[in-house]
Amino acid sequence: MSQLSKIGVIGAGHMGSGIAQKIAQEGMQVVLVDIRQSAVDKGLSGIRHLLEGGVKRGLFTPDKVETILSHITGTTDIREVADADIVIEAVFEDKAVKTALFKSLDEVCEESTIFATNTSSFYVHEFANQTRRPDRFIGLHYFFHPAKNKLLEIIPHDTTSPKTLETAKTFAVRHGKVAIVVKDSPGFAVNRFFVPSSNEAARMLEQGMGNIATIEAASKQAFGIGMGSFEILNVTGIPLAVHASQSLGSELGLFYDTPDMMRTQMETGKDWDLADGPVEEDKIPAIVDRFYSVCLGAAASLVDEGVATMEDVNLGAKIGLRWREGPFEIMNRIGIDKACQVVEAAVKRYPGFTMPKILADQKAKGQPFEFQLVTLEKKQVVAWITINRPDAMNALNEAVFRQLEQAFDTAENDPDVQAIVFQGAGKTFVAGADIQFFVDRIKAGRIDHIETFTKKGHDLLWKIENSPKKTIALLDGLSLGGGSEMALACRYIVATPAGSMGLPETGIGIVPGLGGMLRMARRVGPALARYFVFTGQILSAQDAFDLGIVHCIVDSGEIEAAIRKITDMPDNGDKYAPKEIPDRFAPMADLFAGTQVSGWDHAPAPVKKMLDRKSPKALAMANEIMTAQQGLTMEAALACELDCLKDLFSSADAFEGLSAAASHRKPVFTGK
Ligand SMILES: NC(=O)c1ccc[n+]([C@@H]2O[C@H](COP(=O)([O-])OP(=O)(O)OC[C@H]3O[C@@H](n4cnc5c(N)ncnc54)[C@H](O)[C@@H]3O)[C@@H](O)[C@H]2O)c1
Repeated sequence: MSQLSKIGVIGAGHMGSGIAQKIAQEGMQVVLVDIRQSAVDKGLSGIRHLLEGGVKRGLFTPDKVETILSHITGTTDIREVADADIVIEAVFEDKAVKTALFKSLDEVCEESTIFATNTSSFYVHEFANQTRRPDRFIGLHYFFHPAKNKLLEIIPHDTTSPKTLETAKTFAVRHGKVAIVVKDSPGFAVNRFFVPSSNEAARMLEQGMGNIATIEAASKQAFGIGMGSFEILNVTGIPLAVHASQSLGSELGLFYDTPDMMRTQMETGKDWDLADGPVEEDKIPAIVDRFYSVCLGAAASLVDEGVATMEDVNLGAKIGLRWREGPFEIMNRIGIDKACQVVEAAVKRYPGFTMPKILADQKAKGQPFEFQLVTLEKKQVVAWITINRPDAMNALNEAVFRQLEQAFDTAENDPDVQAIVFQGAGKTFVAGADIQFFVDRIKAGRIDHIETFTKKGHDLLWKIENSPKKTIALLDGLSLGGGSEMALACRYIVATPAGSMGLPETGIGIVPGLGGMLRMARRVGPALARYFVFTGQILSAQDAFDLGIVHCIVDSGEIEAAIRKITDMPDNGDKYAPKEIPDRFAPMADLFAGTQVSGWDHAPAPVKKMLDRKSPKALAMANEIMTAQQGLTMEAALACELDCLKDLFSSADAFEGLSAAASHRKPVFTGK
């Protein structure tokens, strides 16, 4: 696997400069090339300007800005990318310009360099096949603004090698992107259903279904977005939308083609007038249905054609377009019958557009779509289980537990599998459980559902804990609550420097509910475990390594080798065997050596401040449970934790803490 230490970006315009910025922010070296020195200078000063804006908003320190900028070299000489691991092309959307560029790059670059195109409207294979390295050629389609928008469409063409695809996926994670893999096809995945939404807005205006203000309001309501269809067109530029719809229309037909009114508006050179009249509320439902008819229809068609999976289409909409829900989630919400009905209307309106099979089949089943939130991939003797909800920081919910268990059972029953790795998609491992689920269940008076859910989680973690295979948690990002508890249940934890753990539940009025208090106490002793549970203090990968919780810390390029090493070595004994705790943790352990839950006035100010923010009720319960668990067998200690669940979730502090977390406000605890 390439080290991905040097990346070339060609074209320092809107996209190229943003792509270079993001790569540099994530610590890789970038060479940014343009044909004109003035464009290089403009690109670099734009990056500086954006980063300095980040300093004002507290995102970066001035030193960090200088470090990021030091990772970027601007030049007009493409020979400077000769030894890059990947070269990403982001020049004008002109076939001849791009083809000529790739021919020059082919002459200049080393054999191993991978080429990527950021084209929006051409096929990737058209460029790949003009080079001597079609196997090392791939599409990387970024979304504006590429330093901020996390979505990346990865587009292998027919002869892209598996190794190139793997490197592209690794590169995506390395620079903080959520990647979806998409077939080399017109509009790829997201533009395929986004372009019809802009087109339909213009067509509805043309047909007098409402004024701009009303259609704008309806689009916001339909997709849960802050900026409606017309404002997006104004911001991104009407010519770009005309170009995108023209190229999709020429490949896929009238349904995708540019509406007359869009072309006319472009010719005026003016933006749409967003305040062209009052919002007519009574017209909104019909307009929402029209938006759904084209977007849901296009999304279902592209899945039918094997362009992308349902789950990736949902992710593309939520991450790339910032929709509140993905198209298939919208279909589930409005009901499959209703989804079929609105899409049927589009089928009647647009000759050549047919009812997608996936939708018709789902209607026949009479059930909502079920999404694959957990995937299982076997690579030789290692099973990789990935929680794939990066839009929700891979939070655990009923479906995730169910699918995790299925994947785990399959891996465990496979005689060839020696190790089972758990990882999270994107930059988070698992950020805990779905808090809204708890709030909804408490409100509905169904704490028994929370008990069933938690019991399922306990059973799964117990299976993981006792598996005859080597279970490995790959902590390559944040893990919180249930995520950290899951990692603690594994036999080994491999972390990257970005990995972390934390049990912050007492800050939201509850306690770690999946055996984390017990497992932490068995790993680091009860006093230090109390410190981590009571304060919610995050353990960095280094802290966890020093405490013997993490087996090794490796850079992301070395993960597979580390997993391989663990798989091949003899098991190294009991993970709960007593270990030496480094001196730097002694003061924290001393502070919590007793079992009191109040009277911490003598604690250092930072610790006291952390404790003051916690629920007194949750602290008392955590203390009670942790005290009771000492001296019990693992099974009895876990049962003791489950026994307290009803009491805990019936408390006022739990409801307050969970509701506050769900609505992103500070909780006000009463200790009741
Ligand atoms: N703008 C978007 O929202 C968006 C989104 C996704 C993909 N894209 C694609 O990204 C690419 C770039 O778009 P943009 O909006 O950044 O364009 P842009 O016009 O802002 O920038 C293009 C840059 O490429 C440079 N350039 C042209 N030919 C070159 C060559 N042979 N060698 C080096 N530099 C050269 C130009 O000088 C210019 O600075 C296009 O293919 C576009 O379709 C754009």
